[in-house]
Amino acid sequence: MTSEPILTLENVSIGYDPAKAVIENLSFSLMKGEKVALMGANGAGKSTLLKALIGLIPHHSGRIQVKGLNLPSGPVQAATLKAVRAIMGYTFQEADDQLFMNTVYDDVAFGPRNQGLHEDAVKERVQQALSTVGQLHNSHRPPYKLSGGEKRAVAIATVLSMTPEILLMDEPESGLDGFSRKRLASLLKSLDHAVLFTTHDLTFAKNVADRIILLNDGQIVLEGESHEVLAQTETLEAYHIL
Ligand SMILES: Nc1ncnc2c1ncn2[C@@H]1O[C@H](COP(=O)(O)OP(=O)(O)O)[C@@H](O)[C@H]1O
Ligand SMILES: [Mg+2]
Repeated sequence: MTSEPILTLENVSIGYDPAKAVIENLSFSLMKGEKVALMGANGAGKSTLLKALIGLIPHHSGRIQVKGLNLPSGPVQAATLKAVRAIMGYTFQEADDQLFMNTVYDDVAFGPRNQGLHEDAVKERVQQALSTVGQLHNSHRPPYKLSGGEKRAVAIATVLSMTPEILLMDEPESGLDGFSRKRLASLLKSLDHAVLFTTHDLTFAKNVADRIILLNDGQIVLEGESHEVLAQTETLEAYHIL
């Protein structure tokens, strides 16, 4: 991790209805290589925030900068979205939403093929991404036959094969048993990428995150190094984390 920001939000407001903000006036930075957990009760706005960062929902106001690139408020041009998505990869809460091809290989190859890479380069990307997540042996299996933990790992590989610098992940540990959560935590921790993820699991947050941001009603109510935030048990209880 360095102290150089790779993603910066300044006074960002986001909503589905222009008259009502779900995220209000939010500011924070994510450093290169830093792992940050976004926590907060159901409905706090965590998923909305991740979706706006990847351009799935436009933000109303404020500045979002991705590695010096400006994601403007309002409708975003396709070229800008493409540039932003080359830097940031996003994984859905449900791995099944990410996997739709007949084989693991084709799912992980989908992004690089879409980028117009030659099949040799695609193969290199796929093998690299699948070996990073420990799933090379499952290359030729259909995704629906994999276990929850294997699906999650492959879903991450579909994003890694696009060689992003930032990973945005919505509840990556959900639906996984304790063993698979621990494996996923060490995988995320071992990546050089900056990772911004949402979670309801305090142990998972502690194992992965350098920093925790606690959201309530679209605003930051607590922010700090993971061990500092996790020690604030009364606040965590008040905001339904504990
Ligand atoms: N597609 C949508 N259209 C309208 N409102 C939505 C939509 N998705 C989420 N919301 C609302 O935005 C708020 C934040 O939701 P969300 O970002 O999903 O919270 P979290 O991920 O923290 O549980 C909630 O009040 C929710 O009802
Ligand atoms: Mg959510």
